Amino acid sequence: MLVVVFSIFLFGCFMYNEDVKSIAEFPFSRPKAQESERNVNNGGKTTTVSVVLNARTVVETEVESDRSASDKNDVVVEQKREIGSVSLKSGAVEEIETPVEEEEEEEIEIPPEDCDLFTGEWVFDNITHPIYKEDECEFLTAQSVVPPGKKSLNKTGSLSVFRIEDYNATVEFYWAPFLVESNSDDPNMHSILNRIIMPGSIKKHGKNWKNVDYLIFNTYIWWMNTFNMKILRGSFDKGATEFDEVERPVAYGRVLRTWAKWVEKNVDPKRTKVFFMSMSPLHIKSLDWENPDGIKCAKETAPILNQSMPLNVGTDRRLFALAANVTKSMIKVHVHFLNITTLSEYRKDAHTSVHTIRQGKMLTPEQQADPATFADCIHWCLPGLPDTWNEFLYARIVSQS
Ligand SMILES: *[C@@H]1O[C@H](CO)[C@@H](O)[C@H](O)[C@H]1NC(C)=O
Ligand SMILES: *[C@@H]1O[C@H](CO)[C@@H](O)[C@H](O)[C@H]1NC(C)=O
Ligand SMILES: *[C@@H]1O[C@H](CO)[C@@H](O)[C@H](O)[C@H]1NC(C)=O
Ligand SMILES: *[C@@H]1O[C@H](CO)[C@@H](O)[C@H](O)[C@H]1NC(C)=O
Ligand SMILES: *[C@@H]1O[C@H](CO)[C@@H](O)[C@H](O)[C@H]1NC(C)=O
Ligand SMILES: *[C@@H]1O[C@H](CO)[C@@H](O)[C@H](O)[C@H]1NC(C)=O
Repeated sequence: MLVVVFSIFLFGCFMYNEDVKSIAEFPFSRPKAQESERNVNNGGKTTTVSVVLNARTVVETEVESDRSASDKNDVVVEQKREIGSVSLKSGAVEEIETPVEEEEEEEIEIPPEDCDLFTGEWVFDNITHPIYKEDECEFLTAQSVVPPGKKSLNKTGSLSVFRIEDYNATVEFYWAPFLVESNSDDPNMHSILNRIIMPGSIKKHGKNWKNVDYLIFNTYIWWMNTFNMKILRGSFDKGATEFDEVERPVAYGRVLRTWAKWVEKNVDPKRTKVFFMSMSPLHIKSLDWENPDGIKCAKETAPILNQSMPLNVGTDRRLFALAANVTKSMIKVHVHFLNITTLSEYRKDAHTSVHTIRQGKMLTPEQQADPATFADCIHWCLPGLPDTWNEFLYARIVSQS
């Protein structure tokens, strides 16, 4: 169970390499400052994790590029070790005093459900973290933890299914960048500047999310290209092309309400646990953390540690508030809100930066020397921050079971 759930983010890296080229090359529009399956063999019963990660897959695509980087370039490996060795110390977790039985060597503390995992501070810890060594982590590309012949990856359209035979388990990824239907739904050809969505239309995607054990949603980065969203009048199926433009949060709210309705109607809470992961932030402007000598995130080697400074790295907090509110208002199906945004905002050091690929290729030394143009401050390194997200997800899953 553990392995599979943790693999969710790692897994994304195989699938949407395309994203790297498209997203890194798009303009981003910031909000104004003041607006702020897995299947386990549990007695023949099958369980499934379906993962709906959008921005996040983008995030993970870098992993592969990192791997190839480290194969050729020791510097990259070193840097990643450094990046991986910061872990979030959550105040709440620290305070839990579980009676530890002396004879047991490894007592696993499971934080209770009402524990706030997401508030804390980053501390340097290269003893317990990273939880895997990058250079031993072949499973990022070769998945060597599962022996050959005992696993498969099947990509069909928007759905990619990774199957682990011995556990009768699958980890699935479904590409739907806006959750609802849009003109960017083709996983291989979504580099579209003129994005148009159908905020009321989710069934087509939703049918792929049924009868699984853990559903993990998110939607963010694809909203950030323009201030306004284009809303289709009518249906793509009927050839409609006319659209209205509405403000980003208005469209986001409509989409989330459509999504919430779908979840409440289609998810059996006894069978399926639902998670919504909040937005993954970017670090594009070094003045956001008061570093006038910075170049995007490229020169950053430490997290933002001074938490008394109000932080604004350009995250559209209006969308965050909507996601927090909509998930909280769902009653029939309880949705676990994975509040990773603020804690990730502190991690200006954790992006792939110039250790990345562009149009399918590693950056050349010349490109790497020009971070103002080429640094990628959207995606994250692995080992690194996404592992922390996964740890929180895992904590939420085990605290319930
Ligand atoms: C594996 O999962 C399938 C459904 O996906 C189920 O029909 C089958 O019985 C399971 N096999 C075992 C050995 O649990
Ligand atoms: C999310 O976490 C941050 C700290 O990381 C906290 O300040 C904020 O209140 C949390 N928001 C919600 C809606 O839980
Ligand atoms: C941890 O970091 C310290 C300080 O940078 C270093 O001296 C030590 O060798 C590191 N240990 C490991 C296990 O990486
Ligand atoms: C992959 O999945 C598709 C859709 O479920 C199926 O039609 C196809 O046979 C599968 N391919 C392999 C190689 O298993
Ligand atoms: C943290 O930030 C606050 C507000 O900007 C500032 O007053 C304080 O000096 C900073 N602390 C440190 C240790 O830099
Ligand atoms: C979220 O809910 C809070 C409290 O109910 C409310 O004050 C706020 O306006 C809501 N925000 C959004 C964006 O819906």
